[in-house]
Amino acid sequence: MPPSDSNVGLNANLDTEVGKLVVDLGLATRTEIEFCRESQKQSSDPNQRSLADLLVENSFITVNQAKRIRSQLEERKRSQLPGYDILGKLGKGAMATVYKAKQISLNRIVAVKVLPRKMSDNVEFVERFYKEGQAAARLSHNNIVQAIDVGSTADGYHYFVMEYVEGKTLYDIMQPPPVGEGRAFTETEALDIMIQMADALAHAHQRNLIHRDVKPKNILLTPQGVAKLTDLGLARATDDKQAAETEAGKAYGTPYYISPEQIRGEVDIDYRADIYSLGATFYHLVTGRPPFDGETPSAVMHKHLKQPLVPPDHLNTSLSAGIGEVIEVAMAKNRDERYASMENMLEDLRALRRGEPPIHARQQVDLDQIAQIEENAQTVDIDGPSSGAGAIWSHPVVITLLVANGLTLIAAAGMLIALLAH
Ligand SMILES: Nc1ncnc2c1ncn2[C@@H]1O[C@H](COP(=O)(O)OP(=O)(O)OP(=O)(O)O)[C@@H](O)[C@H]1O
Ligand SMILES: [Mg+2]
Repeated sequence: MPPSDSNVGLNANLDTEVGKLVVDLGLATRTEIEFCRESQKQSSDPNQRSLADLLVENSFITVNQAKRIRSQLEERKRSQLPGYDILGKLGKGAMATVYKAKQISLNRIVAVKVLPRKMSDNVEFVERFYKEGQAAARLSHNNIVQAIDVGSTADGYHYFVMEYVEGKTLYDIMQPPPVGEGRAFTETEALDIMIQMADALAHAHQRNLIHRDVKPKNILLTPQGVAKLTDLGLARATDDKQAAETEAGKAYGTPYYISPEQIRGEVDIDYRADIYSLGATFYHLVTGRPPFDGETPSAVMHKHLKQPLVPPDHLNTSLSAGIGEVIEVAMAKNRDERYASMENMLEDLRALRRGEPPIHARQQVDLDQIAQIEENAQTVDIDGPSSGAGAIWSHPVVITLLVANGLTLIAAAGMLIALLAH
């Protein structure tokens, strides 16, 4: 049977690829390839022999070399994504590999994150992957890596196409040379990055998208100083605690930035998890080390849950006081004691950048203190008078309230006396 037109086309393409690879590998010369292609053209045989066959027939390559060429081309095809030319590897994380690629239709450079094939077995994960990919694609913000496409290859690899960012991750920048600069960020540098990230996350939160994995590895910094948040909305195959353990198990990092509620495996994770992780990232940027460290991932996670934070200005005494306040509120273990919104955190970061004190952090601290006083007061009611009662009356907030009430009473009494005197 004569080959169909499309088969002729496909075979011609394949022959071109074979010819290129044979020359690239130095197995045959261009002249030898041309000789075989010429004899293909001359032949009137409808069952045209392939270039590889002809090269073997003319003893330009061996049968084994032809087999190797075919399997290499096969492998290359498998790793290809329809519509994209893979140009090289950008990096590899715990879950995926990121490639630099050209999007053929629009002739532009993009980054493609390819997930391991085993993920395709998890139906729930695949559903979430597409749903969150679509949600992320609806976002448009200068400090969020733009999502472009999600898809899967014929052989079951899921991929996520995004804007390519020229630059390094904050994690890489803090690495020792030659990878990075081996130093923490200055207060101003860190604030400029944090402001951009808080703005990006506030934008995502307003659209009901939570990142869940804010960390220095997911923030790219361009040479012009633009910070870009990546991996937004990328679904997790497992719950957060398991994911953190998997990452740690693969030595790609420990759960340095994860919120206590994610560690506890709570199901109603909200935007406040991002506030905690952004605070933890800020801590690392200005002190040069993560907020909690330990021998094992579970030791680090235990500290997130139980251990009080060493104030960042104890590690870097040159930090202005406000930075410590912002980080401590963002990283409160109880999420009710954190910033009420990412917008509030953003306002405080902007205030710090202007050299002013953080407003919301201070209010939050006052509210927490009042809550603490109420709690103590209840304890006193139950237990009767104790040293705790003394502590309440001597608390600055309570004193302020008492003085204010006292002044009001004195003023009222004064007015009454004045009226009676008339
Ligand atoms: N949009 C992008 N443009 C350019 N490079 C990128 C982009 N996204 C990711 N990269 C690079 O690819 C690397 C791997 O990214 P990936 O998200 O798979 O892992 P990670 O965030 O580094 O680590 P982890 O698996 O712990 O989350 C990154 O460290 C970064 O260097
Ligand atoms: Mg990442």
